[in-house]
Amino acid sequence: MSAAAIFADPAAERRAALSERLMNAASGAFILFSVYLGDQLGYYQALSTGGPLTAKELARRTGTHPRYAREWLEQQAVAGVVLVEDEQAPPESRRFRLPPGHDEVLARPDSLDYLAPMAQLVAGAVRPLEQVLNAYRSGGGVPYESYGRDLREGQARMNRAMFLYQLGQEWLAAVPGLAARLNSDPAAKVADLGCGAGWSAIGVARCYPRVQVDGFDLDEPSVALARKNAREAGLEGRLRFDVRDAGDPDLAGQYDLVMALECVHDMADPVGALRTMRRLAKPGAPVFVADERVEERFTPNAGGLEWLMYGFSVLHCLPAGMAAQPSAATGTVMRAETFRGYAGAAGFRRVEVLPVEHPLFRFYWLSG
Ligand SMILES: C[S@@+](CC[C@H](N)C(=O)[O-])C[C@H]1O[C@@H](n2cnc3c(N)ncnc32)[C@H](O)[C@@H]1O
Repeated sequence: MSAAAIFADPAAERRAALSERLMNAASGAFILFSVYLGDQLGYYQALSTGGPLTAKELARRTGTHPRYAREWLEQQAVAGVVLVEDEQAPPESRRFRLPPGHDEVLARPDSLDYLAPMAQLVAGAVRPLEQVLNAYRSGGGVPYESYGRDLREGQARMNRAMFLYQLGQEWLAAVPGLAARLNSDPAAKVADLGCGAGWSAIGVARCYPRVQVDGFDLDEPSVALARKNAREAGLEGRLRFDVRDAGDPDLAGQYDLVMALECVHDMADPVGALRTMRRLAKPGAPVFVADERVEERFTPNAGGLEWLMYGFSVLHCLPAGMAAQPSAATGTVMRAETFRGYAGAAGFRRVEVLPVEHPLFRFYWLSG
């Protein structure tokens, strides 16, 4: 069909546009999974610290096979992720490097621009595809543990820098009076529900050197990872982690801050978890929740974050949230209105959205 004919026919125009998008999406998926390889095999770290490198040098530094290293380097150069210094040279002697800027995205875990873990997170989200298909047919769920190490670690590594450098310094500091309390005596106690690998607890403990944090998570390997991370951070004396359901009526304690980061939408019983949070907060102490900054209402073609979050929802958050029944079946796209409904049902009288601009998260401050 000629270009003129395509533009005269809206269906042909849409067909061409969608075909192009799907082809680009396939290439995008391959970039993401090749980033996964580079991240997991230590290729980006090696290029960042020792580049430019030939395929043989990269293979030697990372304990991998030179033929694979060469194919990966060529693919990365074609995809525009790494630069080749001398493309006319024979394949064995071409040298590759990470250009300035790309190293922060791919090889700097402390950078807020670090995105290599996104590849690991997506790899985790598609790991139990067969189970996800079955869940769609049966109405059941897919247990969090079925998503395995990649989901757990990818999630932890994605949020790590934000939790270490923004959580205490910017997000919690936006809750009126909270920073003063966390800096004062007697030492404030913080509860972190759905704590994952512990980076939020570590971030708060580093930012506020007096506080003690108790982290709770349903997933045993996450709690083991949190304990290890706390030990390696030299904070095991101030941080404690336990395997517990956020809705456990036996969870006891009185805390100066109770928080839940990027996890309420994952919980089968978000109202039960929020009820626990309300009970654990001392009178007048804030409850702080960070969750996805999705649109206020269903917005087809919203693009951007909405697109990404629905992607996680159809593959991971909804199936994982439906693994325990009965389930609120929230999914990743938890609208502010939905959250307000959960908070009201849990007994909170006040739910405020904090005036903190963030590309991923909306921050709720609950009281009463
Ligand atoms: C998306 S991860 C977020 C982890 C961590 N807060 C972070 O931001 O990196 C969701 C976490 O919620 C935990 N979770 C889900 N349901 C839970 C429940 N009912 N009680 C406690 N933790 C739960 C999962 O095990 C998982 O670690």
